[in-house]
Amino acid sequence: MLTAYDFPTGRACENHGVDITLVGDSLAQVCLGYESTTQLTLDEMIHHCRAVARGSKSPLLVADMPFGTYHSGPEEAVRNAVRLIREGRIEAVKIEGGVEIVDTVKKLTSMGIPVMGHVGLLPQRHSMLSGYKVQGKDARSAELVLRNALALEEAGVFAMVIEAVPRVVGTYITQRLRYASTIGIGAGSGTDGQVLVWDDVMGTWGGHKAKFVRRFGDVKKEVEVGVKRYMKEVRDRTFPAENESYEMPAGEHEKFLS
Ligand code: KIV
Ligand code: NA
Repeated sequence: MLTAYDFPTGRACENHGVDITLVGDSLAQVCLGYESTTQLTLDEMIHHCRAVARGSKSPLLVADMPFGTYHSGPEEAVRNAVRLIREGRIEAVKIEGGVEIVDTVKKLTSMGIPVMGHVGLLPQRHSMLSGYKVQGKDARSAELVLRNALALEEAGVFAMVIEAVPRVVGTYITQRLRYASTIGIGAGSGTDGQVLVWDDVMGTWGGHKAKFVRRFGDVKKEVEVGVKRYMKEVRDRTFPAENESYEMPAGEHEKFLS
C-alpha cells in the first residue's frame, strides 16, 4: 500500500503495480502544510480523493476518515463515509482506534462499507499521546494494541494498519488474526503488507524522517536541480531556443514588421 494525494500520484500507483492506494490524512502535512492531521477537513479530503480517483481504477482505493468525522458515533460515521464514497469516489474507509470504535466499525461494515482499521500509534491522537511515539514497547501496552486489533477483526475490518510498534508486536498480532490482513508502518517485517507515505518514499519531503522510513527516490534533489537550471537558463537567455519557438509562415513575417 502506498499513499496518493492527487491525480498524478494516483496514476503512478495504478501504473506501477500498487495493490492498495491510500488517500491518507497525512495529506494534511505533506500536501497542505498543516501541523497535524487534526486540521484536515472532510471537504478537503473529498477534494483530494476525487483527484486520486480520476487517476486510479484498479488498486483498491481507501481514504482516511479525517479527525472528527466519526467521533460522535456510528450514525455520523456512516453519513461521512457515504460522502467519501459518493463524492470522493473511494471504495473503503480507514479509521483510527480500537475497542472504542467497535460499534462504528460494525455499523459501517453492516451497511456494506469496507473498513480498514489503524492501531498502534494513532496520529490523530498525538496530543493525548504526548507526541508521535512508538507504542506497545512494554508487555502491558503491547497487550492493549493486540486487544484492539482482535476487537477490530471481530467487528469486521478487512485489514488494519499497525503503526510504530516493536517488530515482535507486529508479527504476533499478524499471527493472531485469522481473517484481517495487517499492513505495517514501522511495525517490522512480520506484517502481511507494508505502507509508507508517498513523500517519504520519493524523498520529496524535507521534514522529519522517522526511523521506519526508507527513501526509494530523491525527488527533492531532482526538483532543486530542475528549478535552478530553469532559472539560470531563463536568466542567461539560453531558454527558449529557436526550436522551442514558433515561426511565422514565409511572407507574413515581412508584412507584419512593415
Ligand atoms: O495518513 C496516512 O498516510 C496513513 C498511513 C501512513 C498509514 O495513515
Ligand atoms: Na492517516
